[in-house]
Amino acid sequence: MNITPGTNRRHVLKLLAASTAAPLILPRSLFGAAAPSNKINIGCIGVGWQGGENLNSFLGQDDCRVVAICDVDESHLKEAVSRVNGRYHNQGCKGYKDFRELLARKDIDAVCISTPDHWHSIPAIAAANAGKDIFCEKPLSHTLGEGIAMVAAVSKNKRIWQTGSWQRAQASFRWAAELIQNGYVGKVTRVEVGLPAGHSDFAGTGRDRPDGDVPAGVDYEMWTGPAQMMPFNPCRFHKNWRWNYNTGGGQLMDWIGHHCDIAHWGLANAEFGCGPDDAVGPLEVSATADVPARDAVWNTATKYRIECKYPNNVELVIAGGHDLQGGAKWIGPNGWVRVDRGVLEASNTDWIRNIQKLDKSGDLKIKLYNSPGHHKEFLDSIRSRKRTLTPVEIAHRSQTPGHLGYIAATVGRKLKWDAVKQEIAGDAEATALLTKKMRAPWHI
Ligand SMILES: NC(=O)c1ccc[n+]([C@@H]2O[C@H](COP(=O)([O-])OP(=O)(O)OC[C@H]3O[C@@H](n4cnc5c(N)ncnc54)[C@H](O)[C@@H]3O)[C@@H](O)[C@H]2O)c1
Repeated sequence: MNITPGTNRRHVLKLLAASTAAPLILPRSLFGAAAPSNKINIGCIGVGWQGGENLNSFLGQDDCRVVAICDVDESHLKEAVSRVNGRYHNQGCKGYKDFRELLARKDIDAVCISTPDHWHSIPAIAAANAGKDIFCEKPLSHTLGEGIAMVAAVSKNKRIWQTGSWQRAQASFRWAAELIQNGYVGKVTRVEVGLPAGHSDFAGTGRDRPDGDVPAGVDYEMWTGPAQMMPFNPCRFHKNWRWNYNTGGGQLMDWIGHHCDIAHWGLANAEFGCGPDDAVGPLEVSATADVPARDAVWNTATKYRIECKYPNNVELVIAGGHDLQGGAKWIGPNGWVRVDRGVLEASNTDWIRNIQKLDKSGDLKIKLYNSPGHHKEFLDSIRSRKRTLTPVEIAHRSQTPGHLGYIAATVGRKLKWDAVKQEIAGDAEATALLTKKMRAPWHI
């Protein structure tokens, strides 16, 4: 539909009502805001490692324009703004150091949040309340309590949400989940989720440098935000913040939004798994973990094992540093299927060939959505208002056994979890660990 600048608002709404393919993004000029555009305007918050990747993905999409960047590290901010302006050959992208200023812009339709884990919930909830659609990185949140609040805010404001769990947009992971949902292994009895252990020195800092000066151009007060204020240490800063519980959740939480998310996808069928996707969640959780001294610079668990009981007598084990193979493996009376990055294998090799053929022919009984690409699918959902492959409630369910496992290992006993009420039954000490006090003035 063509909407020219002279068209009045009532006429546009009439046209929209008459059109079966009405775009849901209206030119903001009609409502008194900034320049007219039928593109989806995006603001990116946090443009470090993964934020830079997300930014590149949005820059590659014709359907959107990146119009704003926010980062508390001036060097990341300047580089990203000039990358955007270079891509569009103009000076239209503005830089911000405070995400609240970016969110106040009425012309921004959606945000991409790629800040460290301790900085997901506050900007995400603020974005939902400001009427923005949201792409946010995994794991959904730093605590389970924050995740519950995020799901509520997105649902209340009817926002479109995509999580950075991009494996759902890859054919091999989809095929694996389709094999399970279509009953190839029979009713699943056990799922094994193998994740990395130890720590990975992503920033090349090592783990034992002394505290030091905050680098020039970094707003460390804002970088720390709701986390506990600690002296600046390069080993706890960019990329390596995930190895300290103040800001991250170690290998367990870094990976749970990938492989446990896929494990749940396979189980989201009542006949062969646990039930509809939103309700997938453990009933009981017990865990052990090897955890360094609390005051170690990298203090997240180096080895862990979480045993969960799911509905329909499904056992789900998540482990790092134990004998599980990587990725997600579903086991049933008829055999097994395992998927990991670069791996799709099954006890019966014909199943893999078969699923690929059926995928092409379209004759599969249960067919999962074949994503056109994780970022493109988000943009498509913004227009159609249909839920994405990784909406907020799915991301929340995917991270739940990780957070509960960490709590069970901390208190040293089995937890009983009510996946509907989202409460730990009869354990005040464990319940207190569902949330963490945020440093003032930050709160959700
Ligand atoms: N989906 C994936 O495959 C994948 C891969 C890597 C990381 N991640 C996730 O992406 C997120 C970011 O991880 P990373 O490795 O890119 O971290 P990073 O440290 O490289 O980047 C984080 C960026 O956020 C900025 N930042 C911090 N606080 C901010 C604030 N209040 N406002 C604006 N910017 C702020 C930092 O300055 C930095 O530029 C994490 O949640 C991580 O789990 C996802």
